[in-house]
Amino acid sequence: MKNFTNKIIVANWKMNGSPEMAKAWAAEMRALLVTNNQQPATIIVCPPSPLIFILKGKLNDLPISFGGQDCHADAAGAYTGDISADLLKDLGAEYVIVGHSERREACGETSEIVCVKAARTLEIGLIPIICIGETAQQRDAGETLAVLAQQVKKSVPENWGAEKIILAYEPVWAIGSGNLPTSDEIKTAHQAIISETAKHTGLAEEQVYVLYGGSVKPENAHEIMKIAGVAGVLVGGASLKAGEFYRISECGV
Ligand code: PGA
Repeated sequence: MKNFTNKIIVANWKMNGSPEMAKAWAAEMRALLVTNNQQPATIIVCPPSPLIFILKGKLNDLPISFGGQDCHADAAGAYTGDISADLLKDLGAEYVIVGHSERREACGETSEIVCVKAARTLEIGLIPIICIGETAQQRDAGETLAVLAQQVKKSVPENWGAEKIILAYEPVWAIGSGNLPTSDEIKTAHQAIISETAKHTGLAEEQVYVLYGGSVKPENAHEIMKIAGVAGVLVGGASLKAGEFYRISECGV
């Protein structure tokens, strides 16, 4: 697995974008990276899967990697509407987001399903980005750390096998809302996730990378990435504009 010496900045376009938008985004990103000519953070772009091919074609020579937003646990089969990790790999993906709260909520994805998907992703040489996070209700009931520990135990394959693991802490109530946890809350949650994951997988704590996601913007990215235990960010809305996403990535250098 890759060695992450700087922050990991992930764009999650969700169900947004078009071929035209992807081409314009790529052109702007190229101009920003080439003009500023600095070693960027580790940038991973997860668009809707048909756009991976287009973006990869436009940005292939630059230090940008691509990922899917979900995958099926099987390599192929009668699963109408699904996409396999294998096909994502063929399209040029190196990563796959699994267990995003929007899929857990809207598609009834349990941690057990997320775990199988993560295992499959890993098995074929892609890197899963496993998302976990508490709902507003769970937070209000003071259950955040217990929920995160449960989600780690059930969503992360036990016999991990790889040298590193990436998770994303995304409080459900912080996604797309403009509301963020305090720095202390982020620090506490990340430390809890790191130690629980290390215990669960047998990895050392330094091998566990935890990204923060939920209302990350150019204005708050620097503060967030300074927090102990934050290995980078997972960005939704603000990743759709190349300029904003680039500014966030600059905070991770
Ligand atoms: P947001 O989304 O940045 O728009 O809050 C983050 C995510 O859902 O991954």
